[in-house]
Amino acid sequence: MARVVLGMLGFGTVGTGVVRLLSDRYQSLVLKKVAVRDTSKERRVAAPCAVTDDPFAVVDDPEIEVVIEVMGGEQPALELITRAIERRKHIVTANKELLAKHGPDLFALARKRGVAICFEASVAGGIPLIATMHKGLEANKISSLCGILNGTTNFILSSMEDRGEAFADALKKAQDLGFAEADPTADIEGYDVAYKLSILTALGFGRFARTDNIARSGITKVDPKDFKTANEFGYRIKLLGKAVNQGNGLCVRVEPTLVPLTHPLAAVSGSNNGIVVHGDAVGQIMMIGPGAGEMPTASAVVGDVVNLSTALQLPDFASYFQAEIEDGWAELAAEGDWQCPYYLRMVVRDHPGVIGQIGTIFGRHNLSISSIVQRPVSETEKNASIIIITHTGKSGDMTAALNEISSCEFLENLAACMPIYEARHA
Ligand SMILES: NC(=O)c1ccc[n+]([C@@H]2O[C@H](COP(=O)([O-])OP(=O)(O)OC[C@H]3O[C@@H](n4cnc5c(N)ncnc54)[C@H](OP(=O)(O)O)[C@@H]3O)[C@@H](O)[C@H]2O)c1
Repeated sequence: MARVVLGMLGFGTVGTGVVRLLSDRYQSLVLKKVAVRDTSKERRVAAPCAVTDDPFAVVDDPEIEVVIEVMGGEQPALELITRAIERRKHIVTANKELLAKHGPDLFALARKRGVAICFEASVAGGIPLIATMHKGLEANKISSLCGILNGTTNFILSSMEDRGEAFADALKKAQDLGFAEADPTADIEGYDVAYKLSILTALGFGRFARTDNIARSGITKVDPKDFKTANEFGYRIKLLGKAVNQGNGLCVRVEPTLVPLTHPLAAVSGSNNGIVVHGDAVGQIMMIGPGAGEMPTASAVVGDVVNLSTALQLPDFASYFQAEIEDGWAELAAEGDWQCPYYLRMVVRDHPGVIGQIGTIFGRHNLSISSIVQRPVSETEKNASIIIITHTGKSGDMTAALNEISSCEFLENLAACMPIYEARHA
């Protein structure tokens, strides 16, 4: 490989892994400058070059051909990457938030300036998912992408299920072990998965999904009781990101979902990620692996850098790396149009006729029940717990049915309503 000069924005977890891999294996890839916030901070690995607190010194350096952005966040990353593209530098980034929020503009600008944006590390860390979607599945029409895209929440859900821990305790353990950030909002409220889904929607369906339009619920309201009940019915609770062409529009959602224990996604445990992609020619494929961490993420970043650097000598090579992403945002189906089976658990007053009333309300809203079970809440209470599994129905119909049930005097508490995963392809 010919000598290529690189600059890097950020030298934290991922940047450290990038320096380790580059120094160890790629002598012709020359890291010239690294920008950080605080130059006095002690680093876990020595930088092989100048370290500056002026990130513009990296993007403005005429000798640097490839800018590696591993600083994260929306600003100043957006300003810096925009400036680097304007100066005709190729970009390798791990920044899902930036791409999800500004992807259409950044890719349009990169096309105009004849440079490539490579982003393997932005989704599913070490799993080569972007390359698979971009190149490996090129010949397919994608009909659905569905997966566990956040290792932190998967770790928390696994802890809650395996040890019966409350959400707060499982979160604290994840923080103590370094799997969750001090401010875990982006992970536990599902924003992180929404950013990744926006990017996967661009690759699978041609345009980024605006994250504000992605139906999203995180894991904070998952009740430990539902792990056991779901298990008895043959399911495990996972936070799934889904982008599915249902035929009536593209549905993009993030939500805790019951996955059949027999499906490989149910076996993705701890901090791993797993994703199922359905293409019309290939059928269904699944990838599992580490979705984050210093070396898995550096593996994705450095892979992009090496591929780009190998191609730099070729004429007009940037379009080969540039994913076919159209301008503008994807049009998404209305939120009420999502179709799936549902799991529900409600606490009701133990009166005769309650199950009949629930069945009548569901029927009025086009929902059919596949199984219903009533259990005492405790020996002393006069309430009962009712667990319902429905056949496939529309999310809008389920919302309307639950609104009606909420106003019924028999209802004490609607404890849980979660979709059940089923493989869907239009
Ligand atoms: N960590 C993972 O496992 C993982 C996995 C996949 C993708 N990613 C993505 O990779 C990116 C980096 O993540 P990370 O975990 O490595 O973050 P991190 O450990 O917090 O490191 C961020 C680095 O950026 C530097 N930085 C931040 N703001 C800056 C500014 N305004 N000017 C100059 N330098 C600045 C910081 O400098 P100081 O060191 O001086 O504070 C730090 O070196 C993010 O986009 C993240 O979403 C991370």
